[in-house]
Formats: sequence, structure tokens, C-alpha cells
Amino acid sequence: MKATVGNFTLWYTFLYLFNHCESISGNEAPLIFTVASDGAKDGYQRFLRSAEQYDLDVVTLGLGKPWKGGDMNFRGGGYKVNLLKEALVPYKNDENRIIMFTDSYDVIFLATWPDILEKFQNFKAKVVFAAENFCWPDAELKTKYPEVDGDVQKYLNSGMFMGYAANIWKILESAKIKDTEDDQLFYTNAFLDMKLRDENQIKLDHKSLLFQNLNGNIGDVSVTINKEGETKLLNKKYGTNPSVVHGNGPSKLILNNFGNYIAGAYMDGECITCLENHIPENERQSFNVLIALFIESPTPFLEEFLDKILAHNYPKEKIHIFVHNRVEYHSELVNKFLEHAGNEKYASVKGLNFRDGISEATARELAVNRCLTKKCDYLFVVDSDVHLDNLDTLIELIMFNRTILAPIITRIGGVWSNFWGALSEKGFYARSSDYMSIVNNEIRGIWNVPFISSCYLIKAKILNQLSYTKADVDADMAFAEHLRSQDIFMFASNLNDYGHLINPDTFDIKKTRPEFYELFSNKFDWEKRFIHDEYWAQLLEETVPKQPCTDVYWFPIGKDIFSDSMIDIMEAFGKWSDGTNSDTRLQGGYEAVPTRDIHMNQVGLEALWLKFLQLYIKPLQEKVFLGYFHDPPRSLMNFVVRYRPDEQPFLRPHHDSSTYTINIALNRAGIDYEGGGVNFLRYNCSILNPEKGWLFMHPGRLTHFHEGLRVTKGTRYIMVSFIDP
Ligand SMILES: *[C@@H]1O[C@H](CO)[C@@H](O)[C@H](O)[C@H]1NC(C)=O
Ligand SMILES: *[C@@H]1O[C@H](CO)[C@@H](O)[C@H](O)[C@H]1NC(C)=O
Repeated sequence: MKATVGNFTLWYTFLYLFNHCESISGNEAPLIFTVASDGAKDGYQRFLRSAEQYDLDVVTLGLGKPWKGGDMNFRGGGYKVNLLKEALVPYKNDENRIIMFTDSYDVIFLATWPDILEKFQNFKAKVVFAAENFCWPDAELKTKYPEVDGDVQKYLNSGMFMGYAANIWKILESAKIKDTEDDQLFYTNAFLDMKLRDENQIKLDHKSLLFQNLNGNIGDVSVTINKEGETKLLNKKYGTNPSVVHGNGPSKLILNNFGNYIAGAYMDGECITCLENHIPENERQSFNVLIALFIESPTPFLEEFLDKILAHNYPKEKIHIFVHNRVEYHSELVNKFLEHAGNEKYASVKGLNFRDGISEATARELAVNRCLTKKCDYLFVVDSDVHLDNLDTLIELIMFNRTILAPIITRIGGVWSNFWGALSEKGFYARSSDYMSIVNNEIRGIWNVPFISSCYLIKAKILNQLSYTKADVDADMAFAEHLRSQDIFMFASNLNDYGHLINPDTFDIKKTRPEFYELFSNKFDWEKRFIHDEYWAQLLEETVPKQPCTDVYWFPIGKDIFSDSMIDIMEAFGKWSDGTNSDTRLQGGYEAVPTRDIHMNQVGLEALWLKFLQLYIKPLQEKVFLGYFHDPPRSLMNFVVRYRPDEQPFLRPHHDSSTYTINIALNRAGIDYEGGGVNFLRYNCSILNPEKGWLFMHPGRLTHFHEGLRVTKGTRYIMVSFIDP
């Protein structure tokens, strides 16, 4: 207190002393009681953190002792009453000391003691209980409640109350209660006893001035940010900022969501809890981790997935690898991976494959068991659609030191992710108000959420509590349900970028080279796998493209796997045209300059190819043929040509019916075939050494009269498009 002179300050000083004296006359500091048997529980830790945040000292009753209060999802909790009674014995005659009682696992403090005290004193009561909209556990008691005006919460809730010790004592000794009987019923009976109520001036907090129960009020309560950048709880209906909040009954998950922000968890746009309890840097790589990979359905880009696992940044001798592959199609790749991993320094490598006939749920549980057998510290689950592009993901997850933590992984450009922000009444996906902000990384943090899947790190201490089995429920859903029912928090982090999700929806393993068909569903991965590494440099302004003949430009476009895939797809299809002028694939049925070829639309790649032209060819065209724009490029003739000595070895001079043409070499001159190449007659210029995966781009219809030169040995493949005919 500043001792400056002035009326205001003096008055303030007086008030301070007055309040202070009053609390002195009430002996020591306030007593806040709670009950918790398991001190390691996430909810209890959150409760304590909030108490600390507001400088509240809490006495926890029953800590480390077995819970005797029955199943709290039904009636029960008399144990809490009896514990409090025992604890209050020394204060039973204390008429000045104010005490408070709250539940713990589903309660969060939101105010300091002076704030709480001021609100309490405004009630002009000796005891104030929280109120709620439901008359529970005995709805018949409704009629016994005193009348109250207005649309307010009418009924007593015993999860939070405060008052003078002597008065609370009178309530506690007013009747006997067994440990397994219902505490709320006990306090309700006390309140409905008119004599007891009047003598002890018991009131209910009808408008959540102090206490907010969330059950039945979810639409009225929200998190707001005040001028200081601090998040507060607001009851819009009553215009109040409650001091304690209780996620009673089914509203626990809402409390978990609010808990991501309130009580100093999130301030000034920063996740504060994310900065707490970090494992020190020098310990982060000291843990034994079982990495469990699950390939439960056909997944595109699995090779890249496995490569990223092998490249993940963590001491290999501390990693046990476990793989469950249920897909026969993937077995060759997975076997190669297992063999490779077996030659690395991993602590152990174990694979289960489709022949073992193990269900997903069982496989996941086997991984848990193996983790326990191997005395792991952590289980790290990674499903085959999760690409961990950030190779430090594991180390970072360990650093955050949560019981269960998922890195948030989303589909690129989509809103699909590996967590849910909220749960529908039936236990399925529901969108929380913050879901989009999280998925779009507008806010970053570590979020307590009701469902995670696909990738998560779990501390070994709770492995015994996991289960993936529940009748009629997917393994993932069962997993999350079991955790929720045990009040084990699932956290999900988007503090950093960790990777992306593959979209397996259109993946069709009956196709040859099925990934080649995935441009629409998985563009990012398609590009990484198929587009030439040097392609992107061609787009830079300063890059001067190669021009082997006048107005014939030469660009890298596809990696080897691009060309190989295209050849494989065409050869597997096999219906090469016969090289005559009659061509039923064309509208007029006549081809003036026939080749032995297969059109892209014959192998289901027409739409993809047009997209390819738009995404990757158009930018090249605009760079070299200035002032010509056509979006999207059109092309009716997209085909792979096969030249071989005994079939069609060359093509006579001709014009293309196009504005411009691209011609991609799909295999290697001098190795896969001899001879070949193209000659532009008007310029007397030949290109005899086309490079695999590179394309020529040249004007079509008028200037670039050209011929395909004779192939003398082997087979030459080219891909041709006549663009904007
Ligand atoms: C990590 O979390 C546990 C609780 O799960 C806690 O006991 C421990 O102190 C934390 N470690 C650090 C370094 O904060
Ligand atoms: C074409 O070029 C070759 C050399 O590359 C030359 O020998 C020949 O005379 C040229 N023909 C014409 C018609 O210019």
C-alpha cells in the first residue's frame, strides 16, 4: 500500500485496513478445500495450476487414498462430505473464517481471493452454493424449492460452495451420510430444510456471480478476451464473470475446451501452458520409444512415408520399430523397409503382415504390449497416412511432456485433420468454435481435445489403461472413448508444423502405378514424387531456357519415375494403335500422320493430364512464347508414342495441329534405344540426344515442320500433347 497523502488514498487505506482487520479477526487465511484421490490426474493438475494462477492455497482431502465415494457418473460422493466434515472439526466454531469447497478434476479457478470475497459479501449470506438448471439427483424435490423470480438457475449444485466455517459445520452435522450416498442430495436436503436454511443464511448463486456450472448452460457461457489480453469466462445471459467454473456431468469436454484459454492458459495470443514443464534439452533423446506404424488400408505414397520414418531424427538404438501391415499390395515395400530397418541400429524391429490376419484393434493393442515388454518410456503411433515432414517431431513432442500428445496433422489445403475440437451428442465429430482457427494455424497452441487419431505420443505410465476395443466401434473411436471415460486428457499441438495427411480416398491399387493417378487427391506428394527437381528453377525470371533449335525450348519436367510410370501404364494397357490412317479414337475417324500410340483418355488420365498442362506446362509456355495466354490450356490429342525398328521406326515430316506442342522423352537415347530424335526441316536443325524426363516445346501449325528420326534399335517412347489446337 502506497502511503501518499490525499483523500482518496486515505480512504482506500482505511478500506484496506478494514478488510484486513476483518480477515485477522477471522484468524488466518481462507481455507479452500477440495477432494482428489489421484494427484496425477490431468484434471487435478489443471485445477492446481489455476489455483496457483490466482494465488489460492488449496487443501486437498483424500489425496493418495482410495476413492470411497462410488461412481460419480451416477449418485455418490458422500465420501466428499465426510472428508470435509473431518477437516472442519478444528474450525467448527469459527464464525469469522470463510471456507470454500470445490470439486477438483472438473473445476477451474478464475479469480483471486479478494475478488471472490467481495462477490461473496455482496450475497449477504453466510453460505452460498452454486446453482444449476437441473434438479439432481432427485427431480421430485423441485416443488420443495423456494420460488425465485426470473429465468435463473434454480437448483443447488454441491460441486462448489463457500461460507463461514461454523455455518458450514452446522450443515455438515445436520444429518449423517454414507460415503457412497449422494453428496448433492445431502446438501439439497440441508438447503430445503427451511430452518437450517434461515439459521445459516444459505443462498444459491442463481446468476453465476461466483460459480458457473456448465451443464445446461453451454450456449450462455463463452470465453472472452479482456483489455489486458487475458481470457475470461463470460455468462452472457446474466452478464457475469464467474470466479469458479465446473464442468459438471456431460459438460466436462466443454470445460476442457475452455481450459485451453482460461486461468492464464492463453494470454496475449500466446499459449502459456505450452511453455511449462518442458523436458530439458539434454534429456529429450534419452527415452526408449516404440514407434508403431499401422498400414491398415491401401495408402498412396507409402514409400515416402517409410523413408520419412527412417530419416526421423532420434537415436536409432533407442527406437523399437513395430509395423502392422494389413494390405497385401504393400507387402513388398514393407518387407523391404523391415529388411532395411533390420540393418540399422534400431533396438528392435518387428513386423506383422496381412497373412497374420490380425485386426486393427488387436494390432494396436499388440503394439502397446510390445512397448510394455520392451520397457519403453513412450509409444509413438504413426498411421500410414501421416507424413512426418518435420523430422524433429518426436523430440518436440517429448519436450512438451504431456501424457498423450498428438502433433496436429492436416490434409494440405483442406480442413481434414487428426483431431476433433468437439464431440456430438452421439460421440461423433462436431466442429468446435476454434477448430478452423487451429487447423488454419491462426492460433497456435497445445489443445485439450476430445478425439485424436493417426499420430500421437503416449507416456508408458498409462499404457495399461489403453484399449482399442469396443463393440461396433472403430479402433480409433474406441481408443478415444476409453481415454475420455477415464478423464485422461488428449492434447494436440499445432505449435509447430509437423507434416501432412495423405488423402487415400481415390487410391486404386488395381491400377498400374496408382500414385500417378493421384494428382488431384494428393498434389503435394504427387509433385514431390514426379516433378523434376530442376523444374522449379525454370520458372525463375533469371533462368534462360535451353533453345537447341530456333523457338524449340527444352525443359526438365519429370523425374525418372514420372517417365517410368507412364511407360508402365501404357505397356500394361497394351492396346497400341495399328499405325494406319483409320483411327476410331478420333472424331473424323481419320489420322493423317498416324503413329503407334495410346491416348491418355484410354488409360483414364485425360483429366489429370489437362490439369498437368495447366499447372506445369502453361507457366513454361508463358515464359518463352511471350504474350500468349490461354487458361486452361486445351488439348484433344495427348498420347504416348512408341517407335521401334520392327514396328514404326520413324515419322514422316508433318505439321502438328496445335498452337504449340510438347514432346516429352520418356526413356534414354543411346541406352534404351539407338537412333531417334527429331529434325526441324525449316531450320535444318536436329535434336539427336533428347534427355529422359525433359520436354521440347515448339510452335505447331506453321513454322515447325518436323519429322521423327528413325529408331534403329530398342524402343523409344515419347509423350506428346497438341496444345490449343
Ligand atoms: C513432466 O511431467 C510430469 C507429470 O506428468 C511432472 O511430474 C514432471 O515434473 C514434468 N517434468 C518437468 C521437467 O517439468
Ligand atoms: C543442314 O545442316 C548440315 C549440317 O548440320 C549441313 O551439312 C547441310 O548442308 C545443311 N543443309 C541445308 C539445306 O542447309
